[in-house]
Amino acid sequence: MFDLSGKTALVTGAASGIGEAIAHVLADAGASVVLADIDEIAGREAADRIIQSGDSAQFMQLDVSDDDNCRAVAAQVIEECDILDILVNNAGIGHVGTILQTESQDLDRLFSVNVRGMFSLTKAFLPAMIERKSGVVINMASIGGVVAIPDRLAYCTTKFAVVGFSKCLAVDHAKDGIRAVAVCPGRVETPFVKKRLAEYPDPAKAYEEMAATQAIGRMAAPEEIAAAVLYLASDEAAFVTGTAFEIDGGFSGI
Ligand SMILES: NC(=O)c1ccc[n+]([C@@H]2O[C@H](COP(=O)([O-])OP(=O)(O)OC[C@H]3O[C@@H](n4cnc5c(N)ncnc54)[C@H](O)[C@@H]3O)[C@@H](O)[C@H]2O)c1
Repeated sequence: MFDLSGKTALVTGAASGIGEAIAHVLADAGASVVLADIDEIAGREAADRIIQSGDSAQFMQLDVSDDDNCRAVAAQVIEECDILDILVNNAGIGHVGTILQTESQDLDRLFSVNVRGMFSLTKAFLPAMIERKSGVVINMASIGGVVAIPDRLAYCTTKFAVVGFSKCLAVDHAKDGIRAVAVCPGRVETPFVKKRLAEYPDPAKAYEEMAATQAIGRMAAPEEIAAAVLYLASDEAAFVTGTAFEIDGGFSGI
């Protein structure tokens, strides 16, 4: 239903989890997709899987917390693809703890990836989008960017910032033909969450407890989040901008 033929997209954090699922669904809808990730081996493997399924993809190594790296990747994409239509700032890292278990360095580390990375990459691509009067920027926040999640002070602080950034970008550049949205998933079963679960003394019990924080009583599959991103990236979502798009299985409604 959603046709992205002729469009180019870049997805950060595309070597794993939600990002990989997004890269697949955008490529499947006809977009030419650049998978960008700090993890070169996993990123190349993810891009190869898309190519093997007959769709168009390439990998570029990118550490989103490195401003120079963001500028260089944006310049390379614009040189090779001429224009970027869809930017998905998905790369993100987590931290468990209240303020008492969070050091300033933890906060800086999360901000450099979750917020400054998104800022730098968007800033690098925006002038070319404005020149064409067209572009979509989709930023992966979290339901923890809308409501507080216990023991996730640094993570939620950065994700509230992602929502704020997306709203400001949308308001400042709507007249330039740019749309910007924040996506706010509840818990999604990805390597990111599996790693957290493995840190608990009883991972199975921890899974049940995390699943129960959603009214639906389970975690999402990465593909369920990717399906929403596909819609948001498409022309069918032309009137959607500045929103925090919640896909949370009822997390925030409980
Ligand atoms: N899994 C969840 O429950 C959940 C819920 C809400 C929001 N999110 C958000 O979704 C996004 C993806 O999460 P996921 O669960 O798929 O995680 P994941 O750990 O499976 O994947 C994250 C990817 O980001 C990459 N990455 C990390 N640091 C990077 C950097 N500096 N530069 C470039 N790439 C980097 C990793 O190599 C990895 O491939 C994150 O922003 C996360 O905060 C996840």
